[in-house]
Amino acid sequence: MDQAVPLAPPPARGVVPPAPKVHPRPFGGTILGQLRVAREMARSLVGAYTEDDFEALATPYVFMGQSGLLLSDPVAARAVLASPKYGRPVKAARPLRPLVGDGLLMAEGETWRRQRKSLAPVFTPAATGDLLPRFVAAGAGLVEDLAGRDRANLARAFHRATLDAVLRALFSRRADAEGAVLADLARRYMEGPAHFNFFDYVARGADDLTFLDGERRRVGGQWFKAVDALIAARRACPHPAVLDLLDRLLAARTEDGAPLPDQEIRDQCSSMLAAGFETTSRLLFWAAYLLALDPETQDRARAEVLAAPADEVASLDDLKRWPLLRAVLFETLRLYPSAPLIVRQALEADTVAGHAVAPGCMITISPWVIHRHRKLWEDPTAFRPERFIDQAHPWGIEAFLPFGAGPRVCIGAGFALAEAQIVLASLLARFQIAMADERPVLPKASITLGPDHEPDFRLTPIGQARP
Ligand code: HEM
Repeated sequence: MDQAVPLAPPPARGVVPPAPKVHPRPFGGTILGQLRVAREMARSLVGAYTEDDFEALATPYVFMGQSGLLLSDPVAARAVLASPKYGRPVKAARPLRPLVGDGLLMAEGETWRRQRKSLAPVFTPAATGDLLPRFVAAGAGLVEDLAGRDRANLARAFHRATLDAVLRALFSRRADAEGAVLADLARRYMEGPAHFNFFDYVARGADDLTFLDGERRRVGGQWFKAVDALIAARRACPHPAVLDLLDRLLAARTEDGAPLPDQEIRDQCSSMLAAGFETTSRLLFWAAYLLALDPETQDRARAEVLAAPADEVASLDDLKRWPLLRAVLFETLRLYPSAPLIVRQALEADTVAGHAVAPGCMITISPWVIHRHRKLWEDPTAFRPERFIDQAHPWGIEAFLPFGAGPRVCIGAGFALAEAQIVLASLLARFQIAMADERPVLPKASITLGPDHEPDFRLTPIGQARP
């Protein structure tokens, strides 16, 4: 708790949610300084930033013998993400590969290009539009789960609902007992093996020292087994009337016209499950938290969804009837980017934002820092969804990159946003939400940006008005 900044009273210009302490001075490049950074990062990946980081656009650093550049200049960051001179650091694959195999998330070079091309039809707006009834069903399932309760752990409830949504989208099935196994495995993995550890820093490559990764391999093996069982069960069933993502994967062809190999189908399903439900459930959690801190915005968003109920959503165009709700989700992604860190490694020498970059140098792009940067945003720490309302398209804002940028931009962004809007709309239409106690909730990042504890929310059914 010593990290908490107390809740600010709601100012006229937007609620300021609690945030981890920003350290007053740089830690310095000494061994002691680096150990302090490592300690803060072990507590939370977003807990080691200093005042200077929110003012400077590029800061060189050395950490564990590795040189790097914390890059917050949005134009330069986008250029790095678009440039073939940079690749994903091989070590970055270590914590995730046991869960996602060689799917799109981990693939590199020609394999990545081929995979991305064959997956493109799976994520077109038309394909996402076909999935809307499944997101509506997941939202209805969430509300059913919460019915009759006056308080609930919404982090868990959203975890279940987003897993339900992605299972419906992938395999045309709801999150039943097998789904619960997956949810449990994903939670165990994210809370333990997914964390970057000492051996990840000292390993020379993705496959080095993996004999020390027993827990990752064990939980990852159980996860793959569960995904294989879901694929086998779905393949044994007759085709649904509307194609699911597995149908589209089975229909996908490589450049020479061959179907995708079974292992690739399994790895792509695992990638979509792992990349898809954890991130979206984080987004929903933080959106609910911000709306609980800002009841006035919550009421205005509710008015939108009561006027155009979620179960009447039939096309992506219908989602335009909730402009404030959509802006709330964008503002949530700004303040709490589900993926708080994007890292690239220089493959050749370059100059970035005026700094010479040697081959091997890490470029750390932190949506957490960029989205709260004092030179890039007005009132950067305040929750003000209105800042996104007048934007024809938030992707036009250079300093907003919750889904990354360049050729490896999140392939599931449209899927995630449609799902999150529908699930949040379903919740708001049925309940007023408030925090059950005043303990501040702080972000605690590992791969995704989760809460440091899972608070209870108070739920009041709509119609039983708040005094
Ligand atoms: C709020 C939700 C989400 C956020 C914030 C998010 C964020 C991101 C980011 C930042 C990247 C780029 C990482 C990099 O450049 O290193 C990424 C990539 C990816 N995301 Fe998402 N994601 C979300 C939801 C989803 C969903 C729902 C799916 C699938 C159903 C998905 C699948 C992927 C995949 C497969 C990649 C790798 C793309 C590639 O390398 O070509 N994501 N995501």
